[in-house]
Amino acid sequence: MPIELIIVDDEELIRWTLKEALQSDNYRVLDFADGASFLKHFEEKGGDIVMLDIRLPDINGLEILSRIKQIDPGVFVVIMTAFAEIDTAVTAMKQGAYDYITKPYNLSEVSILIKKIVETSILKSQLRHFQERDNQSFNQILGESIKIKRIKDHILMAAQSERTTVLVRGESGTGKELVARQIHLLSSRKTKPFIDINAAAVTGTLLESELFGHEKGAFTDAHSQKKGFFELADSGTLFFDEIGDLSPSLQAKLLRVLQEKRFRRVGGSNDITVDVRIIAATNADLEKQMEEGSWRKDLFYRLNVFTIFLPPLRERKDDIVMLAKFFLEQFCCEFSKNITGFSSETMDILMRYPYPGNVRELKNLIERATLLESTNKIRPASLPDELKKHKSLDSKKAAANYSVSEKLPTGSVKPWKEGGFSIKDYIDKVEGDLVKEVLVETNGNKGLTAKILGLTRFSLRHLIKKHCLEEGASEESV
Ligand SMILES: Nc1ncnc2c1ncn2[C@@H]1O[C@H](COP(=O)(O)OP(=O)(O)OP(=O)(O)O)[C@@H](O)[C@H]1O
Ligand SMILES: [Mg+2]
Repeated sequence: MPIELIIVDDEELIRWTLKEALQSDNYRVLDFADGASFLKHFEEKGGDIVMLDIRLPDINGLEILSRIKQIDPGVFVVIMTAFAEIDTAVTAMKQGAYDYITKPYNLSEVSILIKKIVETSILKSQLRHFQERDNQSFNQILGESIKIKRIKDHILMAAQSERTTVLVRGESGTGKELVARQIHLLSSRKTKPFIDINAAAVTGTLLESELFGHEKGAFTDAHSQKKGFFELADSGTLFFDEIGDLSPSLQAKLLRVLQEKRFRRVGGSNDITVDVRIIAATNADLEKQMEEGSWRKDLFYRLNVFTIFLPPLRERKDDIVMLAKFFLEQFCCEFSKNITGFSSETMDILMRYPYPGNVRELKNLIERATLLESTNKIRPASLPDELKKHKSLDSKKAAANYSVSEKLPTGSVKPWKEGGFSIKDYIDKVEGDLVKEVLVETNGNKGLTAKILGLTRFSLRHLIKKHCLEEGASEESV
């Protein structure tokens, strides 16, 4: 919606010149010759910026100003005054006018002032919009890809079973902590504490006392009794980050709490019972750590009750646009910048990059670009050079360029060297994987998937059934 600028002045020539000078694509200019007709319009339709002559034939300008502020305190009012009336202009500023200009006007100064107000007003409305969304979306998992929709379903399931231990796994920066917080916020524990501990950040013995608390005199520095995280999180959620780094002795202690729901403070002799849901997160290869003997299998099975795997961003490229726009909006508010979007070349680069640091890396890139950008669109120049080297695999272009033969095993892969090889099973697997992959790539669009794979819709339906891929596939067009 264009910004509405209203000129209120009884001199026709002034209205006409201002209107001519200020007419622009960004705002609609209206004009009124007296206070009463302006107020009638403003009460019904409102406006964004009002240029108000202080001396009108019918109503005093200051009275109009106070009426405007009653109707909509957010409106920007610029007082137009003769030089001799500066005192009145100052009073008007005290009553909430944004600025004043003295007659005769310098049109270019007026136009700069209006541009400044327009920018401020855009930022204000973005900030309002952001604040409205803030409460809901600050902790929200953004994304519309099939993969992220499935994650959101799992989050809801985990939230509903408020005692179930949850293990969140995924590469660094995929949103594990965000998921943990979201589970807590959607659960009946949401008004209770969410305590987060990073197993990698504290050393063994200290972590034990942090977790379970200690009694007075339990060790040299224990001058008084202290409650640990388990007690502090009572009735709430305990988020155990970087669980892969937990020392063997603490693994044993955590296992005991999970099994018996009881623990003792360091140096204590009484058991303490608490009602805490545990959410653990890791980007470590726990299976490998179990094989190597550095991770307890029994603890793994206790934690692995409900596991949420967060896919890397490169496997859900459809979410990049939404995330990039969200972060841009967020940083524009933070840095008071007015950048409206991305040039198509920039978006192309963002879509191609594989994001080893996942969503966090995308967020950091957008933060940097927002700071560097001097125009109203993020251009490639504001991205690091490293990003521009990557070859294309954007999902829409992929529909046209996708080459199935690229996906077939190359000479270096020798699956028949593994025991129990069957060519039929192998081809079946390749077939299933390909259909699944293209369905994900096309956001579940069956028509497009059939086209890419060179199949009829009928054959595709058959393969979807055969490989149990029904969920997420749709008949809609992209
Ligand atoms: N789906 C998403 N929607 C919105 N923001 C996201 C999403 N995923 C991640 N983020 C943001 O990316 C950043 C990294 O997320 P988070 O800290 O939860 O990742 P992590 O998996 O815990 O990373 P690490 O393993 O490095 O601790 C955060 O700022 C988070 O808000
Ligand atoms: Mg984390």
